[in-house]
Amino acid sequence: MLKIITIIGARPQIIKAAALSRAIRNHFKDKIREVIVHTGQHYDEKMSQVFIDELGIPTPNYNLSIGSGSHGKQTGRMIERIEEVLLEEMPDYVVIYGDTNSTLAASVAASKIHIPIVHIEAGLRSFNKSMPEEINRIMCDHASTLLFSPTKTGYNNLIDEGFSSGNKSPFTADHPGIFHCGDVMYDNSLYFKNMALRESNILQDNDLKKDEYILGTIHRNNNTDDPGRLNAIFAAMINISNENKINIALPLHPRTSKAIETNLDKTLHDQLENSSYIKILPPVSFLDMIMLESNCSLVMTDSGGVQKEAYFFEKPAIIFRSETEWTEIVDAGAGIIADADQRKITAAFDHFSTNQKQITYPKIFGDGFTAEFICEMILGN
Ligand code: UD1
Ligand code: UDP
Repeated sequence: MLKIITIIGARPQIIKAAALSRAIRNHFKDKIREVIVHTGQHYDEKMSQVFIDELGIPTPNYNLSIGSGSHGKQTGRMIERIEEVLLEEMPDYVVIYGDTNSTLAASVAASKIHIPIVHIEAGLRSFNKSMPEEINRIMCDHASTLLFSPTKTGYNNLIDEGFSSGNKSPFTADHPGIFHCGDVMYDNSLYFKNMALRESNILQDNDLKKDEYILGTIHRNNNTDDPGRLNAIFAAMINISNENKINIALPLHPRTSKAIETNLDKTLHDQLENSSYIKILPPVSFLDMIMLESNCSLVMTDSGGVQKEAYFFEKPAIIFRSETEWTEIVDAGAGIIADADQRKITAAFDHFSTNQKQITYPKIFGDGFTAEFICEMILGN
């Protein structure tokens, strides 16, 4: 029996981990034993436990309760605690997701004691090292043994950084295996879509009608913590919603709720509070989120995961960033990089309002069984 330790911590990792856990339970339970470690990076019920319950993830075997803090403090505390767990459990592999501080901490802890790392969502690059996530990704990839990239671009980025496509199993940290394999988030969107249709009441509860509202999310630190950027994004959303008499559903990360109180100009803050169109919601559950994504007319976001889910559900996305790791979405014409620039955001909205029907969404994120493929590759090494 192969033993893996899965490290989760932030909201998107909990969601991504659901796909592999499900594949193990359904197809590999005699071959793989999964131990789940939650770092506690996200801890509010609506940022963590709701996903564990709703997506059927087993209760984490360890919760390290690290919580928030500066990058160094948060990551350092995690490394120390993850190392203790790894030494106690001595797994065959550590499985890490994405690019958060939890991902980085796990990769440092595991690599120092020579436990092979499986990195799911490897190879993604923004080529912007001022993003904390970019540093995390690069470091995690270069410490990993098995690297699973959801896109061809991600796979090619790894080749450009010196990884070899010709390596054969057995793979090691010095002789890593790289795979272009599809996206576990796509597995989840397909798997949970019908359940969302049956169980979510988010549209009725908020008086939202199919195709008649925009879905927005904002949480990137450079948008929340820079008042200029935060003000520009909210000014654009307030204007678009007023001029077009269209609702914007805005489930907010706690970081953004706090930033609105401190970083938004008073006039905009008042306009937001009195807006009849902008519906600020607390963070919503995954089923509610995919209900919102699959029924909206358009997505506005700075989230990596929400950009992709917009694409899965064939909705155009206005991206509040100066670049994206998910370049295929922009190349397909389904995403527009609008940065935190009111003029570009409005122009992108006008563009999608007239051209939406012409957009195509080629299937580039796998076949919905990426998690099963990853399990096979781990077992085969
Ligand atoms: C983290 C990831 C980011 C990811 C995001 C997903 C890093 C460096 N960043 O950003 O890549 O896109 O998660 O959502 O790891 N907070 C709460 N309650 C919580 C969690 C956070 O109130 O349950 C607040 C705290 O004020 C905290 C702030 O949000 O200081 C930021 O949390 P943190 O986990 O440090 O980073 P995120 O912005 O969530
Ligand atoms: N998500 C959610 N509820 C919300 C906001 C996001 O369930 O209120 C889900 C979303 O569907 C996606 C993931 O969280 O699966 C994306 O996480 P987030 O935007 O926090 O981080 P990122 O993907 O940018 O790292």
